[in-house]
Amino acid sequence: MRSLFHKSIVFIIIAGFFTSCADDNDRNYQYFPDMYRPVPYEPYGSYDIFANQQEAKLPVDGSISRGWMPYDYENTPAGREDAKANLKNPLAYTEDNLTEGKALYTVYCAVCHGDKGDGQGTLVQREKILGVPSYDDPGRDITEGSVYHAMYYGLNNMGSYAVQTSIKERWQIDHYVMSLKDKLEGNPERSFQTNTITQENSENLNPAEPADGPSEDQLEGSNDEESQSEE
Ligand code: HEC
Repeated sequence: MRSLFHKSIVFIIIAGFFTSCADDNDRNYQYFPDMYRPVPYEPYGSYDIFANQQEAKLPVDGSISRGWMPYDYENTPAGREDAKANLKNPLAYTEDNLTEGKALYTVYCAVCHGDKGDGQGTLVQREKILGVPSYDDPGRDITEGSVYHAMYYGLNNMGSYAVQTSIKERWQIDHYVMSLKDKLEGNPERSFQTNTITQENSENLNPAEPADGPSEDQLEGSNDEESQSEE
């Protein structure tokens, strides 16, 4: 017992000796220093080895984010005319696409444009917004391309839907808008196509799809990147 008491005294003195001189400002002993100081460069770290001392680099010129495709038509009257004449819907006109388009249209567009596309949405009836056209307005003569263009950039009082919707969703809405236009004009209903992508237009859909058609994954989830790269 006595010797144990002595031993502990000696131990305490030795422990005190080691700890008392520690410098509070000094870094303590580190186990596995790699955990604190990683071997690779820190993201956004500053290092002399880089030209501007900045680890974070801009992407190589001309890089395109995965799942995102630049929209080639400009936000100008000329760009609008160009899209109106040349831009085509890459999605097949299927029941699924139309159903999906209708659901999205009801969420995003119907408040102004009305369920029938006649420009008599709730906001118009309550006189909260003016100048919402009917889709069969002959002066506008909307096309697949002009509808997409309007959703992409917005038009005067109408905001852009490039952030809220993915490329595929916009084309689904587009099909539905064109079907509303047909109904308003009293045209016969367009018959459904069976394949998922119309071959000749497939380059309009992003990203370039494999032979067996794009996966859901590729078509969707591109919103964020899109919204950031716009404007
Ligand atoms: C806040 C009300 C509002 C909402 C919501 C809205 N629009 Fe519009 N939209 C307008 C107005 C106002 C115009 C007329 C713009 C102008 O020509 O000055 C318009 C015009 C249009 C045109 C005609 C474009 C042209 O080339 O003349 C189309 C097509 C259209 N909208 C489609 C849509 C679609 C599709 C949605 C849903 C994704 C939508 N709009 C949502 C208010 C709205």
